[in-house]
Amino acid sequence: MGVPMKCLIVNPPEKGVEIKDIEIEKPTDKVLKIKILENGICGTDREIVNGLMATSRPPVNVNYMVLGHEAVGQALEDGKFIHKGDLVMPVNRRGCNKCLNCLTGRPDFCETGEFVEAGISGLHGFMREFLYEKEENLILVPKGIEDVAILAQPLSDLEKSLSEILTIQGRMIWTCPEGTYICRKALIIGSGTIGILTSMLLRSNGFQVYVVNRRDATDKEARIFEGIGAHYANIGEDLEVLKTMNLSFDLIFDASGSDAELLSKSIRLVKNNGIIGLFGFPSKGTASISHKDLQTVVFKSLIVVGLINGQRPHFERAMQRLAEWKSVWPDVVKELITGTISIGDSNSVISALQMKKKGEIKVKITWA
Ligand code: BGC
Ligand code: ZN
Ligand code: ZN
Repeated sequence: MGVPMKCLIVNPPEKGVEIKDIEIEKPTDKVLKIKILENGICGTDREIVNGLMATSRPPVNVNYMVLGHEAVGQALEDGKFIHKGDLVMPVNRRGCNKCLNCLTGRPDFCETGEFVEAGISGLHGFMREFLYEKEENLILVPKGIEDVAILAQPLSDLEKSLSEILTIQGRMIWTCPEGTYICRKALIIGSGTIGILTSMLLRSNGFQVYVVNRRDATDKEARIFEGIGAHYANIGEDLEVLKTMNLSFDLIFDASGSDAELLSKSIRLVKNNGIIGLFGFPSKGTASISHKDLQTVVFKSLIVVGLINGQRPHFERAMQRLAEWKSVWPDVVKELITGTISIGDSNSVISALQMKKKGEIKVKITWA
């Protein structure tokens, strides 16, 4: 028997989104009932809504999917560790139940590719009134960060990325003489939500941070980057202008997902033993790499790595990180939530899901 509730429904890979009352099947496993309080809107949601995400598909046996992979809700019943009234965040990717990585809680490294992602592929998402969720998929929101807790989901992807970068760079001594990363220079391409969160994360780990985009920083971005001690540059159309500024980097993090061509340009900007992390999903272009650039990869012992999806440990870390940021950078953290739309305002919800507004960092949909 299904439970009737209001949901945001999409039909991937076709475009479109609507708010609808539907019946959602209650799982037979032991689950906790959660009242959704808010959802975050992410670029991936917009790709799905606009029919641009070819890999997005509904759960088996239905031809629609509930959207949403960023959510904070309130537990309506007691579990083992979670108590009635607690605020919780669900983890969005679930394992294939076959490979060792999934069986040990790391479907971010699923071997079979048969994982599912809530609101993205093969599993209903979190933009709905209620969620029935196993306790093992729920992360407790610590007291004091309720207002920004929604950021823990995208931040979990980045905590995972950073931990992967540090693990890979553990192939040598990558820390500076005093044991920190303050001598390491990081370049972040893109100053959207992910670029901003990454700049904060790298700054709180001691890195020197340079953020670039093809335009001037907005006033808000300028305040944020100044607040955390990161540099910002408008590089126009060409990443390689950084070379003329005599800049090269230990880490290049693509948070833009713009042009595949960025790869060869990044290879020319990275230092010996450097690492290039691709986080955005490139949406155009071809990465044609010349033999000279490939030689550089060999001679400089470079690494190019794809970075995706945080899991439980990274969600937990992200929650703690937000608490830390609220205390060290309170004014910066206040800039991050740029809008709140009530689910009752359906026209605004739909248009926010279709298009990013200028100056937006994170917009929430609220259900309370
Ligand atoms: C989510 C990730 C997910 C990725 C790919 C992102 O928007 O935050 O957790 O793995 O999309 O679907
Ligand atoms: Zn996302
Ligand atoms: Zn797996």
